[in-house]
Amino acid sequence: MIGKIVMIACGMMFLLSSFLSCRTAILFILFCPLSCLSCSDSSYHCRAASLIYAYNPHVPESLWQELEPYFLPHNHPIKKKLDRFFSQKRVTLSKESFEKAGFNKVKMRKPTNIVVGKHHRFPGYLFKVFFDTQPYVAEWDNWVKRIEGARSIKECIRKHNFHDFVAPKKWIYPLPEFPAPPDDPYYIRKNFILIVEDMRILRAKDNLDAYKNKITHEQLFALFTLLTEVGLIDSVYPDNTPFTIKEKIAFIDTEHHHLAPVPFHKLTHHLSPSMQTYWESL
Ligand SMILES: Nc1ncnc2c1ncn2[C@@H]1O[C@H](COP(=O)(O)OP(=O)(O)O)[C@@H](O)[C@H]1O
Ligand SMILES: [Mg+2]
Repeated sequence: MIGKIVMIACGMMFLLSSFLSCRTAILFILFCPLSCLSCSDSSYHCRAASLIYAYNPHVPESLWQELEPYFLPHNHPIKKKLDRFFSQKRVTLSKESFEKAGFNKVKMRKPTNIVVGKHHRFPGYLFKVFFDTQPYVAEWDNWVKRIEGARSIKECIRKHNFHDFVAPKKWIYPLPEFPAPPDDPYYIRKNFILIVEDMRILRAKDNLDAYKNKITHEQLFALFTLLTEVGLIDSVYPDNTPFTIKEKIAFIDTEHHHLAPVPFHKLTHHLSPSMQTYWESL
């Protein structure tokens, strides 16, 4: 890919220098790609990613192109730090390498076996990963579903102007080709991880307390609307839609969306008796 860019740049240089002065041609070549690279942070279809992540030959080219719009943009504040971090050691090789790299103690999520990690060098973000020691999984498919789900939820929140609800931004980070896992069938390399904004959620017990004692009629109505319109079958559980420290409700588990039926009754027993009556009336 880099080779192609250099070749195109040289070709353009040659052509332009026939028409313009040499200095003008150099300035044109330098600023053209830079202007292409600038994309808004909210843009999920940012083509700039294709210019800044070296292609990983372990991924089919067509899949790489399909996923590029979901890649963390080049101008994201933690992009460079991530590149340095993941190019030194194969952090996601195993539970041991992950913890040694400074992540929290690993707990496999049930039933997906996804690992959620926090790292002190990346405050404000969480990492969702599969290790190379784990069996084959199309991890990218799960990441795309989560990104698309978060995006639809954000859009629905915006459409209704609901102020008490939030959803994290999520991006795919493509792991570099090197460092590679050992050439041993025991390891099945995973090529992508998911990076999400940390929503700073309440601890489990405090969250359940907020559902039981603090949630309002307006919040329940808005929650019902979002669950229904986006088909969020897994967001009826308080741990998937926890309260944040800023007293908003965050949709953090966004994999399952545009599905039906939504099992609304799963939330009922978490509410106070009067709110249960209201919930059932919706
Ligand atoms: N954006 C986020 N902000 C804060 N905590 C999060 C976020 N995403 C996940 N978590 C934490 O990780 C746990 C698992 O994430 P989740 O997306 O629900 O995975 P799973 O699909 O395995 O249930 C959550 O219960 C929460 O504690
Ligand atoms: Mg969950």
